[in-house]
Amino acid sequence: MQATVSSSAREQHYLSLEDKFGAHNYHPLPVVLERGQGVHVWDVDGKRYFDFLSGYSAVNQGHCHPDIVAAVIEQAQKLTLTSRAFHSSLLGEYAQFITEYFGYNKVLPMNTGVEAVETAIKLCRRWGYEVKGIEENKAVIIVCSNNFHGRTSTVISFSSDPSARKGFGPFMQGFVSIPFNNLDALSEALKDKNVAGFLVEPIQGEAGVVVPDEGYLAKAKQFCADANVLFIADEIQTGLGRTGKMLACDHENVRPDILILGKALSGGIMPVSGVLADDEIMLTIKPGEHGSTYGGNPLACKVAIAALTVLKNEKMSENAEKMGELLRQKLRDLQSPHIKLIRGKGLLNAIVISHKNADAAWDLCLAMKENGILAKPTHGDKIRLAPPLVITADEIEECVQLIGKSLKVLD
Ligand SMILES: Cc1ncc(COP(=O)(O)O)c(C=O)c1O
Repeated sequence: MQATVSSSAREQHYLSLEDKFGAHNYHPLPVVLERGQGVHVWDVDGKRYFDFLSGYSAVNQGHCHPDIVAAVIEQAQKLTLTSRAFHSSLLGEYAQFITEYFGYNKVLPMNTGVEAVETAIKLCRRWGYEVKGIEENKAVIIVCSNNFHGRTSTVISFSSDPSARKGFGPFMQGFVSIPFNNLDALSEALKDKNVAGFLVEPIQGEAGVVVPDEGYLAKAKQFCADANVLFIADEIQTGLGRTGKMLACDHENVRPDILILGKALSGGIMPVSGVLADDEIMLTIKPGEHGSTYGGNPLACKVAIAALTVLKNEKMSENAEKMGELLRQKLRDLQSPHIKLIRGKGLLNAIVISHKNADAAWDLCLAMKENGILAKPTHGDKIRLAPPLVITADEIEECVQLIGKSLKVLD
């Protein structure tokens, strides 16, 4: 009894500190974590949970993967930051490694995901003017409704989510929004000669894991190629093994003209993002025209090499493919009246909750938390289920049982 009281007081202490001194720009589940290993995290009272969010797919390799942690420790004792005013012995090595890994001429390293999206937008516009010959300041980038590409002023300018935009205008021009998974709309939008690029998430993650029809990405890429428009894939959430292939675009053998990566590029250790493209696009940006103090820092380079290496060595994409199948099958076997839909690819999945109570998904997440599994609703009635890619079949079975038990709260 005593332990329970002091445990909860401890948690309360951290919650109130955040509430009092931190900005209120998130609405987290009331759990305070202090340790992680593989698929598990522990709260400040020592309770263990399965992590079914994986830092929004940043922790694909599992929490505190020993090889990535070893890379951090080694490099942190040697050299962490040079800025791009000087060269480092790791940037070239990393650039060679990642460009060979994904098959592009060049990489432009950044830190957070949204910075990489911004970088891709600038590259696309610059290519539009210098290579395609679009009249200055007229370039258009096609985006999809219900997209999520991050939170900067430019990126929210083409969001369709009122809560991302309200009170943050005026907005950046030069974006045209079309429905996702709609080739007719794309074909129509591509008729504008000022279109320089089409920016798309291969699966819309934040929208609730919306998987497009088979063939959509391949056709969209072809339409773009025919219109001399860059196909830009934001694989920040879908990439790096998450959907059962190294890239979600690989499911349709699509090679994006500009590839945007982030999140799991560091395995959840630190913000590491990057944009990959060939010379015709990448070399349109010249010295002094774009950059970031931390972008391509030696610590990030070392960490990203380790994060990409363990993904391949431990066959995490293959495991994601198999475990994703199993997860969806076992969830279907629950035959819960509260699950309207189960969808996803690999280990990027969502359940859509069917319930008269608008807070049902939140209540289910609270019940799951009590039962030792952490997930978070996205857009009200959807819960994303995206554990680290190192999860085993036994753990999937255990977790589905925990979800089944938790669903009883909605009876
Ligand atoms: C598809 C996609 N793009 C961009 C971002 C933004 O990344 P960051 O939060 O690291 O800026 C996210 C984050 O969830 C994302 O899912």
